[in-house]
Amino acid sequence: MSDILTHTDAGVMTITFNRLDKKNSITTAMYAAMADAVAQAAQDASVRVVLIQGHESIFSAGNDIGDFLNQPSSTPDAPVFRFLHGIAKFEKPLLAAVAGPAVGIGTTLLFHCDLVYAGDNAAFSMPFVNLGLCPEAASSLLASRMFGYHRAAEALLMGEPFFAEAAQEVGLVNRVLPPTEVNGYAQAQARKLAGKPLSSLVETKRLMKGGYQQEVLQKMDEEAQSFGRMLREPAAKEAFGAFMEKRKPDFSKL
Ligand code: COA
Repeated sequence: MSDILTHTDAGVMTITFNRLDKKNSITTAMYAAMADAVAQAAQDASVRVVLIQGHESIFSAGNDIGDFLNQPSSTPDAPVFRFLHGIAKFEKPLLAAVAGPAVGIGTTLLFHCDLVYAGDNAAFSMPFVNLGLCPEAASSLLASRMFGYHRAAEALLMGEPFFAEAAQEVGLVNRVLPPTEVNGYAQAQARKLAGKPLSSLVETKRLMKGGYQQEVLQKMDEEAQSFGRMLREPAAKEAFGAFMEKRKPDFSKL
C-alpha cells in the first residue's frame, strides 16, 4: 500500500500519512505525492477542503533522515518545496488532525493550516537546532507571529517537544480530543466547511492571509537555502550519523 493515501468524499480530500513502521517519516516520494495531491485539490472543483491526518499514535516523525542523507533537496522544484509552496498558497480551507508526535515538518506544516485538531497525546517539536539545521516552512517567521517571540525561541532554539494543551494555549491547535476521536472530528469539521459557499471561504481566507503570503514564501526560500547548506555541514552530519547509529550526538567540537 502507498505511503500516502488520498481519498476524496463529500468535497473533502483527505491526505493520510501511511508509513507507520517508520513513524510516518516523509520521503521524497511522499512529498511528491502530497505536492501532487494539493495541486490537484487546488484545481479540482469537486474538492472544497483538504484534511491532512496521520495515525492515532503518530502524526509524522518529519523528514525521513536516510532520504535526507541520500538525496538532499537542493533545487526549488524539489518535491518538499513544491509541497510547502502548495500549502502556503492553497486557497481553500486546509485542516490537520494530529495525534502522537509531530516532529519537524510534522509541526511546521501546521502553520499553513486553517484549523488544527489534536489528540491529547500530541507532541509537537521543531528540533532543527538539535539536528545541526535551521527552521523550515517559514516557521522562523510564523512561530514568532503565532506564539510570540520568546515562546517561539524556546520551541525553536531548545527544540524540545511541547504538548497538546500548550499548543492550544499558543494558538497552534483549535481543540484537543482523545486520540481515537481526532481524525473523525476533523473530518466532520471539514465536511461542515465543505457545505459552505466555497467563494466565501476562499475570499475570507484570502483577506485573512493574502497580505503576508509573499513574505511567507520569501522566508521559506531563505530558510531553504540555509537548510540546504547546513545539511552538508559537520553538525548535521554528526546529528544524522548519531540517529542512524542510535547514539547521542557529540557537538562538543562544533
Ligand atoms: N526518518 C527515518 N526513520 C525514522 C524517522 C525519521 N525521521 N523517525 C523514526 N524512524 C524510524 C526509526 O529509525 C525506526 O526504524 P527501525 O525500526 O528500522 O529501527 C522506526 O522508525 C521506529 O522509530 P523509533 O525511534 O524506534 O520510535 P519511537 O516511538 O521510539 O519514537 C519518534 C518516535 C518520532 C519520537 C522518534 O522516532 C524520533 O524522534 N524520530 C526522529 C525525528 C526527527 O529527528 N525527524 C527529523 C526532523 S527534521
